Amino acid sequence: MKVDIIAGARPNFMKIAPIISAIRERQKKGSHLSFRLVHTGQHYDRAMSGRFFEELNIPEPDVNLEVGSGTQAEQTGAIMIRYEKLLLDHPSDLCLVVGDVTSTMACSIAAKKLNMKVAHVEGGIRSFDMTMPEEVNRLVTDVLTDYFFTTSEVANQNLLRSGVPPQAIFFVGNTMIDTLLLNQPRFSPPTFWHGLNLQASNFFVVTLHRPSNVDSAEKLTSLLVQITLGADGLPVIFPVHPRTKKTLQGTAMSWPNLHIVEPLGYLEFNYLVSKAKGVITDSGGVTEEATVLGIPCMTLRNSTERPETVTIGTNELLGTDPQVIRPAMLKIMQGRWKQGGVPEKWDGKTAVRIVEILEKLS
Ligand code: UD1
Ligand code: UDP
Repeated sequence: MKVDIIAGARPNFMKIAPIISAIRERQKKGSHLSFRLVHTGQHYDRAMSGRFFEELNIPEPDVNLEVGSGTQAEQTGAIMIRYEKLLLDHPSDLCLVVGDVTSTMACSIAAKKLNMKVAHVEGGIRSFDMTMPEEVNRLVTDVLTDYFFTTSEVANQNLLRSGVPPQAIFFVGNTMIDTLLLNQPRFSPPTFWHGLNLQASNFFVVTLHRPSNVDSAEKLTSLLVQITLGADGLPVIFPVHPRTKKTLQGTAMSWPNLHIVEPLGYLEFNYLVSKAKGVITDSGGVTEEATVLGIPCMTLRNSTERPETVTIGTNELLGTDPQVIRPAMLKIMQGRWKQGGVPEKWDGKTAVRIVEILEKLS
């Protein structure tokens, strides 16, 4: 069976890396499972794409659809048109998508309309917030999916409630955590570590890129002001997503303890997270990584599609009112943050489970 592995945006790369390794291991043992890596080009800056291929030993994509940026419909349409053409010229047996970005949804639609099977890694998670483009992507993708590889019991229940038959659901765990655990020994300090005199537990890490937090300069600056004040002089390291950079360019954020840096490589970013006093984020993946690394995590959103990071892990859902930030940071400073555990099957073996199942399906 030939599997198309689809990736388009930053959080996809960590999720596909272990699946590709597991397929290659299986091939060494004589498996006929093969793959074609399709990069949609949704993210294209080296810092948002190419660097992860180098760091995580992901092979060069077989095909790059080079769609670039655009509105939701422009991106969706461009990916569908180009992926459909690829499939018509060079068919494949199964379309394997990961996560919830526009590339995930667009490729699922193109594949299903050509009667291909679709597998969704991270299927079934829901924020129930239809203002998020990702929630639309999740719902559409899951309506089209044949095989669901899920990260949690909550995802299983969401799928069962929506009428998915139990035999289509495979509770395998979290491939993003496979990548985290495999690479943990390779985490390394960023170049500014010594220059900023960073030490374990004496700084905060911030990432923000959700449209609701970063598309308005007023909203973004009010969040950053509260974070910077809440750090009480400790350094705040803020690797800025390109979407956020566009908004920041029109503002004058200058505080001695706020360090705005380019997006970091995976090994540097997770070195920082693993040493941080706390993480403040609106990312989904970062809440999972902070949970496994046991680092206090504040999510500046009103909902999460990853409730296990809150019920089991170190994450707390704070909402987006800037006033909630300082009391929560004080709780971290005073050592009053909850201790977390690690969700079931987030054990570094998820990709091997997925590939075993793919082998059986083929
Ligand atoms: C996308 C995903 C989001 C995910 C995030 C991860 C969707 C709907 N959103 O959001 O779920 O959490 O990626 O990072 O799929 N840009 C660059 N260089 C790049 C990529 C983007 O400059 O390499 C800029 C462009 O101005 C672009 C903007 O960032 O318009 C937004 O990019 P886009 O891919 O549309 O969405 P993200 O906000 O990155
Ligand atoms: N990440 C990174 N460098 C950064 C910020 C994040 O390598 O400067 C990694 C992070 O460790 C995680 C992934 O990017 O593996 C999360 O992606 P993102 O926050 O862009 O997307 P989301 O998970 O919110 O969809």
